[in-house]
Amino acid sequence: MNETSSNSRGNYLHQPVFLEEAVDGLKICSGGTYVDATFGRGGHSVEILSRLGFDGKLIAIDKDPEAIEYAKALNDKRLFLHHGSFSELGNLLKSLKIEKVNGVLLDLGLSSPQIDSAGRGFSFQKTGPLDMRMNTSRGQTVYQWLMGATFLQIEKVLKDFGDEKLSSFIASELILRRDDQDCGASKQFPKTTSDLADLVFGVIDGKRKRHYYKTHPATKTFQALRIFINNEIEDLKDLLEQIPMIVSHSGRLSVISFHSLEHRLVKFSMRPQTAQSNNYSAHPKRLGFFSDKDTIKFPNCTIKEIKKIKPSRESIQENPRSRSALLRVGEIICAKQGKEWI
Ligand SMILES: C[S@@+](CC[C@H](N)C(=O)[O-])C[C@H]1O[C@@H](n2cnc3c(N)ncnc32)[C@H](O)[C@@H]1O
Repeated sequence: MNETSSNSRGNYLHQPVFLEEAVDGLKICSGGTYVDATFGRGGHSVEILSRLGFDGKLIAIDKDPEAIEYAKALNDKRLFLHHGSFSELGNLLKSLKIEKVNGVLLDLGLSSPQIDSAGRGFSFQKTGPLDMRMNTSRGQTVYQWLMGATFLQIEKVLKDFGDEKLSSFIASELILRRDDQDCGASKQFPKTTSDLADLVFGVIDGKRKRHYYKTHPATKTFQALRIFINNEIEDLKDLLEQIPMIVSHSGRLSVISFHSLEHRLVKFSMRPQTAQSNNYSAHPKRLGFFSDKDTIKFPNCTIKEIKKIKPSRESIQENPRSRSALLRVGEIICAKQGKEWI
C-alpha cells in the first residue's frame, strides 16, 4: 500500500470527517454485519473494523477502482469489497446471501485523492481533462457529454444541480464555442478543467461586473457537472429507499452529507411523515427532480432520525473540508408481526 490509511489522527491521505461520531452512530456490536458504502481511503472502514470482533463483517463499496485497489491492500478477512455503486447494495446482499445488515455508513462526495489528482478532472484549481467520473471504468466523461448535449440539457443540469443563476449564459457560451467553427483561438471549446473554469469566469464576470468573489465563479458549474455525470442524486435516493428493507430492526444509518440537495434527501428519508405519505416528490424543492413514479415506499419499516451533528469550529479549523458537512444518524424501526420483526 503506497498511501497511508493509518488510524492515528492526522495521518490520513483522506482526512475523514466525523470519523468517531459517524461510527459511534452505528452502535457497533462486535459480531454484526456493517456496510461502508463509500470506502474512499478507508478512514471509516478502518475505524469500524477496529470495533468489530473476529466474527464481524464489513462490506465496503466504492465506484472508484482506485479506492477498491486501496481497500484490497487492507487484507482483512472480515472485509468484503464491491466495486460499483452503493445503489446496488440490495442486490449485492442477495448475492452474498445476507438478508439484513446491522448498519450502513455513507460519507458522500469526493475523497481528497480524487480532488487532488489533476488527471481526474474534478478540480478547477488544477489543469486536467474534463473527466469527473468517479468510476473511471465506465460512462461518459464531462467532455464527452458536453460535446453531445443540447443547450436546454446543459442549462438544466447547471440550474438543478448547481443552483447556478447564470446557467443559460454559461450554456449558450458552451454551445456557441462548440458549434461555431470560426471561434478564435481564445474562444475554443473547453477541453480541460482550466479552460472550463476560464469560460465560466468570463461569462460570470462579464454579467456581474464584480471583481471580488468569495468562491471561484466556476464552483457551482463544477459541482453541477460532477453530480450529474456521476448520477449522485439518483444513486442516493435509490440507496435510501432500500435502507428500511435491508437494515434490521434497531439497526443504524449514519450519513455525512455535504450540500443542500443531499442534506434534504437524507432529511426526508428520516422523517416519519415521509414514510406515511410515501412521497418524496411532494416537497416543492423536489419538483423537477422526482416524478410520481419516484414515490418512496417503506413497507413495514421506517428510519427515525436520532441525531444531527454539525462540525465544531475546531474540527473545521482542523479539517476545512468539514465546513459544509452534516452528520445524520437514523435508527430503523420495523413493525412487529407476532414475535418477528419484519
Ligand atoms: C468522501 S469519500 C469517502 C471517504 C471515506 N469515508 C474515508 O474515510 O476515506 C466518498 C467516496 O464515495 C465514493 N462514492 C460516491 N458516490 C458513490 C456511489 N454512488 N457508489 C459507490 N461509491 C460512491 C467516491 O468514489 C469516494 O471514494
